[in-house]
Amino acid sequence: MTKPSGTKPLDEIRIGGIGASRKRVEDSRFIRGRGSYVDDVSLPGMLHMEILRSPLAHARIRSIDTSKAWRIPGVRLVLTGELAAQRNLAWMPTLSYDTQAVLATDKVRFQGQEVACVVADNPYVAKDGCEAIVVDYEPLPAVVNPEQAFAADAPLIRDDKEGQADNVCYRWEVGDADGTARAFEQADVVSRLRLHYPRSHPSPIECCGSVADFNSATGKLTVYMTTQAPHIIRAAVALVAELPEHLIRIVSPDIGGGFGNKVPVYPGYVCSILCSILLGKPVKWIEDKSGNLISTGFARDMYLDGELALRADGKILAVRIRAESDHGAFFSDAQPSKFKIGLLHSAFACYDIPYGHISARGAYTNKAPGGVAYRCSFRVTEAMYFQERMVHAAAADLGMDQAEFRRRNLLRDEQFPHRTAFGFLVDSGQYGRCLELGLEAIGYQDFRREQRDAAARGRRLGIGISTMTEPLGAGNSREYDILGIKMFDAAELRVHPTGKAILKIGAKTQGQGHETTFAQIVTHELGIPAADILVEHGDTDNTPFGMGTYASRSTPVAGAATAMVARKIRAKARKLAAHLLEVSEEDVEWELGRFYVRGAPSRGASIQECAAAAYGNMPDGMEPGLENNAYYDPPNLTWPFACYLAIVEIDPETGVWDVLRVVAVDDCGVRINPMVVEGQIMGGLTEAYAMSNMQFITFDAGGNCVGSNYLDYLLPTAWETPGFELHEVCTPSPHHPIGAKGVGECAAVGGPAAFVNAVLDAIADTGVRNIDMPLLPDRVWEAMTYRRDVSGAPPVRTGGAAHTTDTADAGGSGAG
Ligand code: CDP
Repeated sequence: MTKPSGTKPLDEIRIGGIGASRKRVEDSRFIRGRGSYVDDVSLPGMLHMEILRSPLAHARIRSIDTSKAWRIPGVRLVLTGELAAQRNLAWMPTLSYDTQAVLATDKVRFQGQEVACVVADNPYVAKDGCEAIVVDYEPLPAVVNPEQAFAADAPLIRDDKEGQADNVCYRWEVGDADGTARAFEQADVVSRLRLHYPRSHPSPIECCGSVADFNSATGKLTVYMTTQAPHIIRAAVALVAELPEHLIRIVSPDIGGGFGNKVPVYPGYVCSILCSILLGKPVKWIEDKSGNLISTGFARDMYLDGELALRADGKILAVRIRAESDHGAFFSDAQPSKFKIGLLHSAFACYDIPYGHISARGAYTNKAPGGVAYRCSFRVTEAMYFQERMVHAAAADLGMDQAEFRRRNLLRDEQFPHRTAFGFLVDSGQYGRCLELGLEAIGYQDFRREQRDAAARGRRLGIGISTMTEPLGAGNSREYDILGIKMFDAAELRVHPTGKAILKIGAKTQGQGHETTFAQIVTHELGIPAADILVEHGDTDNTPFGMGTYASRSTPVAGAATAMVARKIRAKARKLAAHLLEVSEEDVEWELGRFYVRGAPSRGASIQECAAAAYGNMPDGMEPGLENNAYYDPPNLTWPFACYLAIVEIDPETGVWDVLRVVAVDDCGVRINPMVVEGQIMGGLTEAYAMSNMQFITFDAGGNCVGSNYLDYLLPTAWETPGFELHEVCTPSPHHPIGAKGVGECAAVGGPAAFVNAVLDAIADTGVRNIDMPLLPDRVWEAMTYRRDVSGAPPVRTGGAAHTTDTADAGGSGAG
């Protein structure tokens, strides 16, 4: 039966396709309190697990006495490292080819490390059980920064590792050292900067947790857990627990924020699995806020020391960077195997610089594992922060206007595709246009006049610029893998007989709105209204393989897989349409939502009619059904660009600074959902502001984590957060099927430098080159008053200067 459909073209925006600011469908359950998180999972006979954590940062364990805990009524199991070792699970491999203690056996290596856990009928009894465990520690000296870690007499932290004689976690270098050295010889001016990107915590509102359910009858293990990468976790569990992968099901339900915190495999997950296997019952572990803030997923903590070779006219000839990253006791963050320090070498990718060299060294310290990609594409945040702070310092050294210096060095439109000095292929962009749009929007020239007038009246105003590109969408299988698994993603699409569809993706949303926006991609490709498409994710038994959602890779990779699978569906629907319209396939044309006969547009078949035919009226010999899958291995990363500008005013009496204006110009290619994209940018700018202004989590000389609570580590509310003025440029990605580039992290990555540069601009007359983040009022006041850099490194002063160890240039002060 062929029923000609109407010829009026579909309005893509109206049906929720690309470009529609469609309201987020997932919000309907979230705002009604109907989200379903791990802690909402309740299974029959479920027991509860709590973790005993180390109070010391570095200590040998002499003994662990669990006898009192076992005697508490309601306690079912007390798990120690010794017991876990009997199952070969006291240690586990990490996602970066290191090993990590699941439960400490020999030593504790950071404050908050997991020492034992107790399973009981309820979490309160389990907590009592933890308190009843007696651990005899022999304290050892703590190491809390790379300088201490690399000292000749430093205590050896990883004495568990055969052949490990020092605290070096890795060494890595990239670029042309000789070419760079030659370029430096030709420089008119060499500009130098050293800074510390402080340790920070993604701090999602929901902490980590898992419910492990091992069914001894079927041998199947189901784990409900807070993970951004369920498929990789399944592989990791198969490797760590040596269970058959087909009998492991990972379900990642709604997630209350991930931001990179929920990528690693934490001991808590492994312990809940082991306890469930040992007890034959479901075991729930829900981490508390202190546990989350003290032991999981720290990011950054990198010391960057670099220099730019400059010609007097402002041209950058070369860049050299030395990086030291503090990984804590275990190298457990996930970085692509080839790149030990992630994508740090994307630094300066938006500038035309012929030579560059980076050398990096990682340190083991007595801190919780660090280095996670907190809203960041593997260390890109540190790269872009250093880049934009260095550019600011270089322009100042040359006495050149900040905007003009960037103008002279940014890649020009005709230079794309451009191979950077570190080997990346930056594919497209309109960098100059973004910069000019931003300058115009903020009124740069007028501001400079206003700034001078204000200064004459004793007011300190400053403007900061940050221009950046970011490699998003790892990866391509040539270069990117984690644990040997190549970084691609898959999507599966089923169109039902009535034309409604279900899309299953390997990516996992943690608040980004994939259930909304991925449907829009299908709508764009097939013309099925977005409201008729359900997006499923987060259950390894029910979704195709994916490497997970982090590093803004969902749109570049899973989004591309979605477009590709929709195109496969369209190809089959074309054959069905030809059959329905009784013409050959070559005579069938496509417009959004329908096929029609070439030359006779009124004779057509809608995509819904094709779907019906796939189940009820297919041509002879055609396999029934309308479903398919696609694996997408991206040819390159996507390269969004952004220009962020901030205007601040500093109170000269107190060092408190206020943000007066923020302008953002983002080019993330084609925007699937402009409203969602704007939300991502505003969220990122908020985090950038918080990082630069108020977030402080560090360690004292004893390795005590200072600031692991929301009184010290501040989350900005709507009250503190400045308003943002957003602008757009669109350069479609030349290789992504719908021209989209990632965007989720850009503002968090590029934003901090705009705020810090603005503060430094406001005190430019003092000659201060650097204040390390966070720019707390006392630091700004000290810099401004004593006209010196304030570059601090942990440990912080705790009630006296005795413990302070500065690693910064002379004149720096201890943080705190
Ligand atoms: O991997 P993640 O989802 O964190 O980052 P992303 O791929 O940059 O996407 C963040 C959100 O913005 C998703 O809901 C995307 O679908 C949406 N987005 C968009 O609408 N248009 C773009 N060009 C990029 C992202």
